[in-house]
Order: sequence, then C-alpha cells, then structure tokens
Amino acid sequence: MKNNHTCKLAVLLFFLTAMAARAQNFPSNIDESKVQPYTLPDVLQLPNGKTVTSSKEWQQVQRPYIYHLYEEYQFGRYPTKKINSRFKVLETDSKALDGTATRKQVRIYLHPADTSVYMDVLLYIPNGMKSPAPVFVGYNFSGNHTITTEKNVLLSNRWMNFKGKGVVNNRATEASRGTDTAGWSLNTILEKGFAVATAYYGDLEPDTATGYTTGIRTTLKEVLNIQPNEWSAMGAWAWGLSRIVDYLQKDSHIDAGKIALIGHSRLGKAALWAGASDPRFALIVSNESGEGGAALSRRWYGETVQIITAHFPHWFAAKYKTYGDNVNALPVDAHMLLSLMAPRPLYVASAVEDTWSDPKGEFLSAKEASKVYALFGKKGIGTDSLPPLHQPVGGTIRYHIRAGKHAVTLYDWEQYLQFATEQFGGKVKS
Ligand code: GCU
Repeated sequence: MKNNHTCKLAVLLFFLTAMAARAQNFPSNIDESKVQPYTLPDVLQLPNGKTVTSSKEWQQVQRPYIYHLYEEYQFGRYPTKKINSRFKVLETDSKALDGTATRKQVRIYLHPADTSVYMDVLLYIPNGMKSPAPVFVGYNFSGNHTITTEKNVLLSNRWMNFKGKGVVNNRATEASRGTDTAGWSLNTILEKGFAVATAYYGDLEPDTATGYTTGIRTTLKEVLNIQPNEWSAMGAWAWGLSRIVDYLQKDSHIDAGKIALIGHSRLGKAALWAGASDPRFALIVSNESGEGGAALSRRWYGETVQIITAHFPHWFAAKYKTYGDNVNALPVDAHMLLSLMAPRPLYVASAVEDTWSDPKGEFLSAKEASKVYALFGKKGIGTDSLPPLHQPVGGTIRYHIRAGKHAVTLYDWEQYLQFATEQFGGKVKS
C-alpha cells in the first residue's frame, strides 16, 4: 500500500516536472492581454523595397518569390518532376448510401514499377446529376473506412498514429469503421450536389518522426529526384492531394474545373500548401489549421513555432525550427501563405474553444491576405474585427468562428457548401 502510494507520488512528481520543463521551454499563451505587439512582413513589398501595384506583378514577381520563401523556410522543396500516376478502380457501387450516390474506390499507383507504392481514394458522386459534379477533396485522419459505416469500404491496413477508436497496435480494426462520420457530413454534401474524394494521409507518409523512411519521401526519391530531407511530411501530404486531382481530371462524372480542397488541423496545413502548389484546386478551405497553417506565428497565442517544431519535427523543413525562439525574424507569416491562394476563393474557419489554433490569429491573417485579393478586384474579409460567432464575413476570402471545439462540424460544412456553390457559379445540383 505504502509502496503504491510512493509510486503514485513519484509519477505525479515526474509529470509535474515534465510539465514545468515544457512550460519553460516551449511557452504557450492564451491570454489576449499578453499578446505582444508585432509587425508582419508586408505581403505586397517586393524584394527591391517597392510595392506591388498590379495583379500581373503579383503573379509574375511577388507570388513566385513568396512561394519560394515557403519552400525554403517552412515546407521544403516541392517536387517539380511530373509522374504518370496509374489508376485502378478497385470497386464501384452505383447504389451506395441508400441509392443516393455512386461509390468508387480507386487505387492510385505512384511508382512506375513498384506496385506497393499507392494511395487509395474513396469517391462518392451524387446520383441523378445532369452534369459532372463539383467535388470536395480532403484527407481523412484514420482511414477511408472511418468516414462512413458502409461495409464495402476497404479497411485501411496502414500504420495509424491516432490511438483509440478501434485502432489496436497502430492498425485499424473493424471497430474503427464509421468512427469519423461526424467530420464528414456526407449526406448533406451529396444533397447539395457535390462529390467527395478522400484518402488517408498516412498512405503517403506515416505521421511520425521516422515516417519518411517508409513513406513516399523514400520510396519515390529517385522517381521525383528529391532527397527526404529536402522536403517534409507536409510536403509529401500536399503532393499526394494533387495526385487525387490527377485522377479526378480523368473521371467524366467530375467537373475538374470545380475542385474544392478542404483540410482540418494538420491536414489543413497540408491543404494550404497543396493549394499554394497546385492551381487546379479552384477553392481552398482551411478548417482550424492553426500554427503553420492559417494562424499568424508572430502572435504569441496558442501553439507556437517552437512548440510545433518540437513535437512534430517531421512536418516541416528543418529551417523552420531554427526560428522557434525568434519568429519575428521569419521571412514569412501565415497571411503570406493564404495570399498564395489568390485570386481563388478561400475559406478560413475557426472554433472559439480551439484556442490552440488561435482563432483571432487565423482571422487576422485572412484579413491581411485580403490586400492581395484586392489586386484582383476581389472582395476580401472586409472588416477589421473578429466577427461574432456564426456570422461569416467576407467575399472571395471568407471567415467564420463558431461555437465549440476543434473539429469539422455540420455547421462548418454548411458554410463551405454554400460558399462553394456561390463561388462556382450558382446552383450546382441540376
Ligand atoms: C496538434 C498540433 C496542431 C495540429 C493538431 C491536429 O494539436 O499541435 O498543430 O493542428 O494536432 O492536427 O489535430
């Protein structure tokens, strides 16, 4: 009994010491009054000190300059070598989801010879469409089989980093089927006339510090002519999203001119980098992407560069970490990442209880990126202060903050569907 007590005390002490060490080394702040003044790099200031005055100058000079800063400082080099992905439709059901949709499961082979290097895409296309459907593309966190309860969706056999929810020894079991249906309001999306294409991000690279050794940064290094340390896990995930587009462009039931990209949290960071790297994404949604995504790093609130690079070193280019204790010297900040989406429609969303992602920092970067949208005659956020809950603001860049925690909810989807419908030119279901 006494031993047990001592043991508990020791564990508690260890825990408290670890917490204290963490607090000291990687401070976080969620007190708005403690946010220090900061100056953002001017997104319109050219390297020669002059200011960008036209959309042409933006596209030809400033955009490539900022994009390369992101390659150098945050995400690593994006592979420029093209591959010819091969596709195999593994399964089709034209009466999926009670007959409302056609389900396809497509394997995308990424290596010219090695058939073990692939990603599996789960696609739902609404039935009864008179024309090809616009589509939302986005990764899922724990396998395609988690977004629906449909039995024929292949159970992922990949390594999983999220514990619980039917994951045993880092592998999915049947018990994990349908465990993330809440994050994918499938019926609502399909009812509005949108298709959905999703893949498990771990198909590209397992989300762990050594994941690159078995992921595409290793298996495709010769094919893509890039070494693992030249890019990052975020880079690998972003690149994979574009391979989904390669397939969608070949599917006659999809309108490849209306491909919307969505990502939540870490997958929101990957989505932003994919949106920046591939213009075929016609609309981009960042759902609570936070630090390294839509939230300003210079604002000392929620997660910091220091914390994120300590916990997830593999996510970013090595240089990013070196700015952990001096973010003000970082040549980029989140408003510049968002500006790389211009003039395409962009939706940035936060949740009020998700302080870790810094909702206000996400709002402020969207507001700042509006300057670039203005060059194209597009309406940006249009207000200087954080809007009240559930009151989306903006034009071609839109923002909302909703009640609740870090998640993708039905409310979020409803806003994205309305935004995409509007931006893609009116009613899409015909
Ligand atoms: C962690 C991480 C965040 C990330 C989140 C997620 O909380 O610190 O940066 O966005 O995981 O992906 O859920």
